[in-house]
Amino acid sequence: MAEDPFRTIFEPFRIHSVEPMRITTWAERAAALAAAGYNLFELRAEDVLIDLLTDSGTGAMSAEQWAGVQRGNEAYAGSPSFRRFRAAVTGLFPFRHVLPTHQGRAAEKILFTVTGGPGRVIPNNTHFDTTRANIEFTGAQAVDLPIPEGLQPALRHSFKGNMDVAALHGLLAERAAAVPLVMLTVTNNSGGGQPVSMANIRAVREVCDQYRKPLFLDACRFAENAWFIKTREPGYADVPVADIVRQMAALADGMTMSAKKDPLANIGGWLALNDDSLAEQCRSLEILTEGFPTYGGLAGRDLEAIAQGLSECIDESYLRYRVRSIAYLGEALERAGVPVVVPFGGHAVSLDARALLTHLDPLHYPGQALACALYQEGGVRACEIGTVMFGLRPDGTEAPATMDLVRLAVPRRTYTQSHIDYVIEVVTRVAGRAGQLPGMRIVSQPRQLRHFTARFAPLD
Ligand code: F0G
Repeated sequence: MAEDPFRTIFEPFRIHSVEPMRITTWAERAAALAAAGYNLFELRAEDVLIDLLTDSGTGAMSAEQWAGVQRGNEAYAGSPSFRRFRAAVTGLFPFRHVLPTHQGRAAEKILFTVTGGPGRVIPNNTHFDTTRANIEFTGAQAVDLPIPEGLQPALRHSFKGNMDVAALHGLLAERAAAVPLVMLTVTNNSGGGQPVSMANIRAVREVCDQYRKPLFLDACRFAENAWFIKTREPGYADVPVADIVRQMAALADGMTMSAKKDPLANIGGWLALNDDSLAEQCRSLEILTEGFPTYGGLAGRDLEAIAQGLSECIDESYLRYRVRSIAYLGEALERAGVPVVVPFGGHAVSLDARALLTHLDPLHYPGQALACALYQEGGVRACEIGTVMFGLRPDGTEAPATMDLVRLAVPRRTYTQSHIDYVIEVVTRVAGRAGQLPGMRIVSQPRQLRHFTARFAPLD
């Protein structure tokens, strides 16, 4: 609608097939929480009403994506589905080599097995947890260099996901020989999907050029990032999203990708890069761990779904709805007085559990306490991103994370506005009794990535 006369931004799709939800009672949820050791990853998904644990692989595919699934060619080598996949990827990210992988972390595993190792350092605006874990697994060090504004939940900044360019400069001036590559995560997931500006990507590129270091994008949410550039950064309002994406790609030498986010697929990912000799080493490893380079751990039908999803996720009416629907949730919570990270990100709204549960010490896990209360109240599953996720150091000691957030990640094209209205009601009710929520203690935990399997108990 060119003249744009209406204020309502609606879901730009009709519902094509439906999945019933199961409504549970308070007592059933209390029992489910106790059985799960108060770890929401251990819940049965059927016991969750609105699942905001992650936006990863949980979106709804379109009719055209399902048609692609039917078209999938399952040849071991040389499948036309691979060529369609590669054409869709290089149409946006024109890197010379594209290696499909079963998901994003497999691309990370390959890249860092080749480039990491003891003594190496890999900077990022903020490493996602699997990226950090894959780097540390090789013995290398993962360093986060967010801008200081990115660490203050209540501070407004248009591009809170930016990298601290001066800090990158400082790191490279001191330890350039130890740095095999620089990464930038777009959008920056750890602060709730905060975008990175084109000016920041360009500034990081300039520092990389100065030290002759390749720049890799962790580009899971590139389309949402491009939409923020279009709507917030001067000079981009009239540039089509696809062109913004190509400009982002042109500043990088490669990328890791999870197709479970912006590309609207339920599984998949890729590693793409320009360097021939690095690509050769990565391809050899890919054959060992993922499969032949024309399928890389995926079925031909998955490659088709990704190819189609890539054309849908840069559609501007979709992106306008997507980003607006996240802001709708965030603004309602803000109006209700719930402390939230502002401005709102591309795929999630983050609740500031430390600011809401002021009676709890960070080592009593306010984020975990809040996330459990949201499930108990209304069957809403969210994800703690705080001291449980980041508080355990490699030497086994514990320290509070920089922030204790609870992320409400919104799956793509899956929930309607009334589902979100219900979530607003649940969060507001829990916030009303936040002062009475008990803290948590850990009953058992593994040494790495503890948030997935640790077991908790409420404090008396
Ligand atoms: N990078 C970022 C920025 C991510 O958010 C994720 C996954 C990955 C890499 C790894 O991709 O899951 O396909 O292996 N994030 C999900 C989340 C799991 O919930 O934010 P993957």
